Amino acid sequence: MKRPDYLLFDRDTRSIIFGMQTNAVQRMLDFDYCCKREKPSVAAIVDPGRTDLFKCFYGKKEVFVPVYPDLAAACAKHPEADVMINFASFRSAYDTTMQALDQDQLRTVVVIAEGIPERFSRHMRAVALRKNKVIIGPATVGGIAAGAFKIGNTGGTIDNIVTSKLHRLGSVGFVSKSGGMSNEAYNIISRNSDGLFEGIAIGGDAYPGSNLLEHLLRYEANPAIKMLVCLGEVGGEEEWRIVDAVKQGKIKKPLVMWVTGTSIKHMPKGIQFGHAGAKADASRETAEAKNQALREVGVVVPQSFDDFGQAIKHTFDKLVADGLHKPIPDADAPAIPMNYKEAAARNLVRRPTNFTCTISDDSGDELIYAGHKISKVISENYSVGEVIGLLWFKERLPKWAASFMEIVVKLSADHGPCVSGAHNTIVTARAGRDLMSAVASGILTIGPRFGGAVAGAALSFKAAYDAKLSPAEFVESMKKKNQKIQGIGHLIKSLKNPDMRVVLLKRFANDQFPKTPLLDYALEVEKLTTAKKDTLILNVDGAIGVLSVDMMYGLGWDEERIQSVVDSGGLNGLFLLGRTIGMIGHYMDQTRMKAPLYRHPWDDVLYDLPPQVK
Ligand code: ACO
Ligand code: LMR
Repeated sequence: MKRPDYLLFDRDTRSIIFGMQTNAVQRMLDFDYCCKREKPSVAAIVDPGRTDLFKCFYGKKEVFVPVYPDLAAACAKHPEADVMINFASFRSAYDTTMQALDQDQLRTVVVIAEGIPERFSRHMRAVALRKNKVIIGPATVGGIAAGAFKIGNTGGTIDNIVTSKLHRLGSVGFVSKSGGMSNEAYNIISRNSDGLFEGIAIGGDAYPGSNLLEHLLRYEANPAIKMLVCLGEVGGEEEWRIVDAVKQGKIKKPLVMWVTGTSIKHMPKGIQFGHAGAKADASRETAEAKNQALREVGVVVPQSFDDFGQAIKHTFDKLVADGLHKPIPDADAPAIPMNYKEAAARNLVRRPTNFTCTISDDSGDELIYAGHKISKVISENYSVGEVIGLLWFKERLPKWAASFMEIVVKLSADHGPCVSGAHNTIVTARAGRDLMSAVASGILTIGPRFGGAVAGAALSFKAAYDAKLSPAEFVESMKKKNQKIQGIGHLIKSLKNPDMRVVLLKRFANDQFPKTPLLDYALEVEKLTTAKKDTLILNVDGAIGVLSVDMMYGLGWDEERIQSVVDSGGLNGLFLLGRTIGMIGHYMDQTRMKAPLYRHPWDDVLYDLPPQVK
């Protein structure tokens, strides 16, 4: 529905935000929620190079605001948006504002940036006037239509918004140059009347896109606004144009106004106040001269800013007393839930965590492994075995145990291209898949028959040992259960062709381990199984499994802790950790050779099909 020219914003206003101003967008949506608007006031965000969604809150509900790479795309998707809030920096604010003025649907453009060259500001204003559009700014925080639409960060926190009754419609129209003074004035107006209808800060530049008088005339034309309030500033002719407008009867509604800068008389001539335009070069530009001229045409001008609130109250009360206005009742604002992070930072909330981690912590300044800062791990040259100890067992292992872990990783790193894991990795690499897919394919072959018998060996040998089964009783019990002993057997290694890896592991353990009870037990088992078949040796999985248990015995860990590790299946991680090195190597090897797609040869397949159907 088209709004009358005097009305820039209402409860249906939708805007496009230029710039990824997530805080400002959330504050606008919080305001919308406080005003009980039907829809959020932000339709879209424009952030060059992005086309995604910004997730934010509407009250407690999470909503998405679409992000577009350019203004035209956003306008095309959101024709209902007629306000653009331009957060572009002074370097690009002019260009982006001109783009906005070219979009027919955009009627109001708010330019936040400071430092735009005056000639650009004057050109923006000229184009806007020609197109019957309105620019608010530059160098402004914007403004607010109480109970309807908030520009960016105007009005401060939600608490301040509600305290200043900005969440509901009032009857006072306000305009000033300064954003800071505007927020102050909204509060004064709320305490001395039934609140603001609309407040605009036109910005402090010498050539604003719209001036004080233009907004006052909009308020004059708006029947919902019963009185006007304005804060002028020392310097320039703006306030004199208001004096003329009142004289000419263009402003008839009660106007309360104060021109700030009266203290300037005590300073050297020509000194500049905060805003670009705030300096008095001629006597008529002084605050005194302007305040006096305003008084003389019937504007309500207090003796000082301290009396500004009283002047507003007196004027509002007179409107009511004269039967010209019935005060708008207050309205409650729905509570905005505090953001969790903010509430947590203020110790107002607590919640159970969904995750527990006891091995590493990256939440502080420095990564910590089980209590050891990463800088210490590096500066004291912890071995890879010690790092494994920290992250797997939460302690810095003594050198012999850490070395055992490293030896296992070295020995299990690879066993040639013919074993299951390497084979799958090679075939997958030759199928053109990426590293992760090729290695994952190899890892998926690790299991009870290949590489994944480490944990099973530790579990079954320890169980038999703990149950005080003789090796013969153990072998017999597994046969009865028709189960193969995990850690026993190999396709090519045998007593006659021993697995050097197992030899090296046994040698290291005998040299370095405080004791090897489970290895000794497993070797007794091996004597029995190899008596049946030469290849039923203690294989590398079995050796790693039983020696891992012997390592824990040697570390003096209690039975419960050792059993917990064995039961977890985590000891298979030793083979997995090592063999991944080899699988990555096979992937790199195949890609290095640019090996083609692999197809298994026919003559290596027995085709044993059912009889052919005629
Ligand atoms: N425990 C007891 N008996 C066994 C075992 C075993 N682990 N492995 C084989 N046998 C017996 C079989 O029961 C069979 O006996 P039978 O003739 O009375 O039926 C005989 O030995 C031959 O069995 P196969 O399965 O033909 O032996 P194969 O040499 O093919 O098996 C394999 C090798 C797969 C490794 C097998 O020994 C096995 O499954 N072992 C347990 C799992 C394991 O430890 N895998 C790790 C291997 S090392 C690595 O992957 C790094
Ligand atoms: C390996 O380490 O991959 C092997 O022991 C298995 C095999 O068949 O060689």
